Amino acid sequence: MCGIIGYVGHREAAPILFASLQKLEYRGYDSYGFATLHQRKIWIRKNKGKISEAGFEKLPGTIGIGHTRWATHGNVEKTNAHPHVDCEKHVAIVHNGIIENFEILKKRLKKDGHKFRSQTDSEIIAHLIENNIGAGVEEAVRRAMLVLGGRSAVVVISRDFDGIIAARTGSPLIVGVGENEYYIASDIPAFLNRTNKVMYLDDGQMVIIEKNKAPVFKDIKSNDIIKKRIITIDWDAEQIEKGKYKHYMIKEIMEQKETIIRALNQDSRAIKKVANEIDKAFGVFLTGCGTAGKVCLTGEYIFSNIANKHVNYVTSSEFPNYKNFLTKKTLLIAVSQSGETADVLEAVKVAKEKGVKVISITNVKGSTLDRMSDYTFLINAGPEKAVASTKATTAQLAILYLLAYSLAKNIDHGKRLLLETASKINDMLNPRYEEHIKKIAKRLHRKKDIFIIGRGFNYPMALESAIKIQEVSYIHAQGFAGGELKHGPIALIEKNTPCIVLTKGEDDHDIISNAMEVKARGGLVIGVGPKRYGVFDLWIKTPSVGVLSPIVNIIPIQLLAYHLGLFRGCEIDTPRNLAKSVTVK
Ligand code: AGP
Repeated sequence: MCGIIGYVGHREAAPILFASLQKLEYRGYDSYGFATLHQRKIWIRKNKGKISEAGFEKLPGTIGIGHTRWATHGNVEKTNAHPHVDCEKHVAIVHNGIIENFEILKKRLKKDGHKFRSQTDSEIIAHLIENNIGAGVEEAVRRAMLVLGGRSAVVVISRDFDGIIAARTGSPLIVGVGENEYYIASDIPAFLNRTNKVMYLDDGQMVIIEKNKAPVFKDIKSNDIIKKRIITIDWDAEQIEKGKYKHYMIKEIMEQKETIIRALNQDSRAIKKVANEIDKAFGVFLTGCGTAGKVCLTGEYIFSNIANKHVNYVTSSEFPNYKNFLTKKTLLIAVSQSGETADVLEAVKVAKEKGVKVISITNVKGSTLDRMSDYTFLINAGPEKAVASTKATTAQLAILYLLAYSLAKNIDHGKRLLLETASKINDMLNPRYEEHIKKIAKRLHRKKDIFIIGRGFNYPMALESAIKIQEVSYIHAQGFAGGELKHGPIALIEKNTPCIVLTKGEDDHDIISNAMEVKARGGLVIGVGPKRYGVFDLWIKTPSVGVLSPIVNIIPIQLLAYHLGLFRGCEIDTPRNLAKSVTVK
């Protein structure tokens, strides 16, 4: 949510900031802006909408900051775009996060005579710094951070300082280390084409990057200096390009030919050790948001069916309500592609306060979730850039299956099944298959509603299917447990209302009965699964993989969502109102 970039070096900052910000656009895209420092003067350009080149090249200087916004406080207006400045333009700041006590702070600042130009909470940071500018800009930033409530990442340039000062109290910030030049960004892809060497800023820390000097990290509260290591990231810049594909989403869907195999590349001893922890724990919770949450819900079925183990899924934003059930014997498994989702991090924080052991499943090494966890399984999917999660979903599922099979003392069998499934996916994802789904998308793209039903393992995937269709095509889509339809939602079925039915190819009688109920009311039944049942008006074949059917069934729905979005002229990779990492609560 909101992308931040900063640069300190020997080259013109504006083109670097511009290119980097484009790479961060998946974090927010309603407006954007840049500020550079040249001859002790701050130069600013901002605009509404997606990043365009308008005016950026006119900014002089070798130090600068940039921001792409996902609005929280204040409309999508040029005045609300970042960077923001104080009354006297001592500083320009970019911010990612939410300042929970902003109303009190703003009132106080107004009383002190500060004049506000925007409706954002972020602008108060510039004025807070201005209040203490007499103490020096570094100290002024530190004092401002001390009074901010909520979660924030802030990057500041000042006409009185030849460099950048950045601070983090919750939202991510990473320093990229180049040759006598430094970057600071909310995500690694921002600078990955220039360096893969990084230094992480932890919560409660700030960094002072002065030109021609090594960065100095400090604790915001104590002001003590902190030593940091340089870490090398093993992603390469090509992985974050679209290559031959038109959109990241289709590239990432197709990458599932390999990503499931890559997800299986785990240390078997770690899988067994964590499976053992799951076994011993008194109360196991799975937590995640959105798509990752649906993966967790599938986890309930996976552990129950394969390992006869009761685990509970709680959506992360509600997890704090369960704190009374947490003890030192509880285990929490947190699932998050980005490892930066605020609700997930909050759930983990609550759990840790109760002494709970935390295992995470994430795609981003060094992410906040990774660093907060007792053990992390990296899904090895490579950067996922499209807002709609695809390859991370199936990779996360693969790890849950591995854990469940290990718990059932059957890990080799589980691995074999997963590898067989991966090879079937490889066969399935061919141009003819995509063409078939495209035809179905063409038929459905003007519908106002699409319903999806599934039972057992496929119930969470019905919910996930709805998320995919909603976010990419903006069609109203809703997923239900097959058995629930007759308890209310069936009232919505009219002649030709599409209903997608997820099946396994075995034990499907109940879900087929539910499909019949839809058909009897005139609904258009689209079957997904290995067998073509008579009730299906249209059919998307998936391989027969038994309990692993969630992995194969969700892929054609991802393709369907993609083509629905294309037919409807939607912004596939950057859907309206959304952002890739949701770093606010
Ligand atoms: C997925 O298509 C969505 N964009 C969204 O629900 C996402 O899964 C959710 O915000 C969680 O993100 P995370 O996996 O990075 O924590």
